[in-house]
Amino acid sequence: MSVRPNYLPTIFVIFGATGDLASQKILPALFRLHKKKLLPPLFQIVGFARREFTTTEFRKQVSQLKAFKPYARDKDLNSFLTLLTYTPGLFHEKTGYETIATLLGAKDKEWKTCANKLFYLSVSPDHYTTIFSHLKHSGLTIPCSPEEGWTRVVVEKPFGKDAKTAESLDLLLGKLFKEEQIYRIDHYLGKETVQNILAFRFSNSMFEPAWNKNYIDTISVKLWEKDGIGSRGEFYDATGALRDVGQNHLLQLLALFTMDNPGTMDAKKIHRKRTEVIQSLTPFGVKDVARYTVRGQYEGYKKEKTISSRSLTETYFRLEASINTPRWKGVKMHLEGGKKMGQSMAEVTITFKSPSPCLFPAIGNTTHYQNVLSYQIQPEEKISVSLWAKRPGTDMVVEERDLTFDYKRAYPQGTFIDPYDRLLQDVIEGNQTLFVSTEEIKASWNFIDPITQGWKKNATPLIIYKPGKKEINKHI
Ligand code: BG6
Repeated sequence: MSVRPNYLPTIFVIFGATGDLASQKILPALFRLHKKKLLPPLFQIVGFARREFTTTEFRKQVSQLKAFKPYARDKDLNSFLTLLTYTPGLFHEKTGYETIATLLGAKDKEWKTCANKLFYLSVSPDHYTTIFSHLKHSGLTIPCSPEEGWTRVVVEKPFGKDAKTAESLDLLLGKLFKEEQIYRIDHYLGKETVQNILAFRFSNSMFEPAWNKNYIDTISVKLWEKDGIGSRGEFYDATGALRDVGQNHLLQLLALFTMDNPGTMDAKKIHRKRTEVIQSLTPFGVKDVARYTVRGQYEGYKKEKTISSRSLTETYFRLEASINTPRWKGVKMHLEGGKKMGQSMAEVTITFKSPSPCLFPAIGNTTHYQNVLSYQIQPEEKISVSLWAKRPGTDMVVEERDLTFDYKRAYPQGTFIDPYDRLLQDVIEGNQTLFVSTEEIKASWNFIDPITQGWKKNATPLIIYKPGKKEINKHI
C-alpha cells in the first residue's frame, strides 16, 4: 500500500494507555498502520495512565503484549516502539495534563511545526467528565490556528449511561470541540461486512422495491458471544448487555438495514438517515417492557471477579421493537445480544412474508414458504437467501434451498482490515462516516432508557440461564 498524501505531523495521546482496550485494540492497530506505512511520517504516541512507568518500561511492556508476540523479531516493531512516549498521571490531577502539554510543546518545537493532536479516551466512561474538564482547563485541545494543527477527540461507547448523562457529556464536550472534531467510536461500523450493508442494499436494485412492510415480516439482529465478561467485571456490571451492545452495535446494524437511501456517501447525510430510523423506534411503556423484552443472566455470573452476589445485571436480552414509519409500520424488529451463548455470531436475518396467494401450498407440512435472507457478519462473512424450488420428480413438491455469497471465497486474496485500523485511519484523515453522531446517540438512549427503567422496576423477571444456551425463554 502506498503512503497517503498530505499526512501532516500528528501526535496521538492515549488516556488509559495501559488498559485492555489500548493493549488489545488501539496499539496493535497503530502498529499495523505503521507497518503498512499508513501513518503520517512524523507521528508520536503519548501514553497516559496511572501506572508509574518510564517510557522505556512502557515500550517494553507494549513489546510483550500478546498482540505483538508474532512480531517479536520484526524490525517494524522496533521502529514502532520508538514512536511511544509515556507519562504517568491521574485523570483527576492537573499536573498530568501539564506534563502532556510540555511533551506536546517539545515535539512541536522539535518538528518545527504545530502538529495535529488527537486525544483518545481509552478509559471507562466514568472518567469522561473528569478528563473533558481537565482538557478544557489545560487548553490542550485548542488548535494553533484554524489552518494549522487540528485537534480531535475519540470516545468509546457507551457514551453516557442514559439520555441524561449523554446529554451532559455532550454539553461539556461541546465546550471543547465542534461536532466535526468529535469521533464517537462504534467499532461495528468499521467491520468490512458492516460497511458492505449499504453497498448490498443500494447497489442491487432487486432488493430495494421489496424492502418494506409489504414484503418483510421480521428483521432480527443478533450478537451472540461464547465468552463471558472476562476481566471487565466492574465495567460490565454497571452497564449490562443492553447498554453494552444493544444501545450501540445492534441499533446501528438495525439502522443500516432500515434507513433510507442517503443519496450520497456524505457522512452527514448518512448520519441523518441512520438517526431518522432510530428516532422512529416506538418507545416502550412499562407494559411493553413486560411483553416485548426478555432479560437473562448466565449461571455463574455472580461468581465472576468483582461481581456482587446480588447483582441483577443482565448478560442477555431480547426485545421486539417497531419502527413507526410508513415504510416499516408493523414489521417486527428483533434485537438480541448475549454472553456465554451456545456459539459466537453476529447476524442480521430478514424474513420475507409468505407469497399471497400461495400457488403451491405446503403439502403435509406446516411451514409456510418464506424467503429468509441472512446477512452474517461473523464468524463467517456471508449472505445467503433461502429460495423455494420444485423438487425434481412427478410430484409438485416445493423445497427450501440456499443461495450463498461467501465473502472470503469470493475474495480469496482480499484483505479484511481490522475495524480499529480503519477507524483510526479515518480519524487521522478526518472522515466521520463510520462514526456516530450526537443525534444518533440521543435517539438510541431515548429508545433504551424506558427498557432499563422498566427492568429496574422488575417489569420482566431476570432469567438465570445455563452457559451455552441457544434459546432463552422465547416468548417473543
Ligand atoms: C464491545 C463490547 O463493544 O463489543 C463487548 O463492549 C463485546 O462486550 C464486543 O464483547 C464484541 O465485539 P466483537 O467485534 O468481538 O464482536
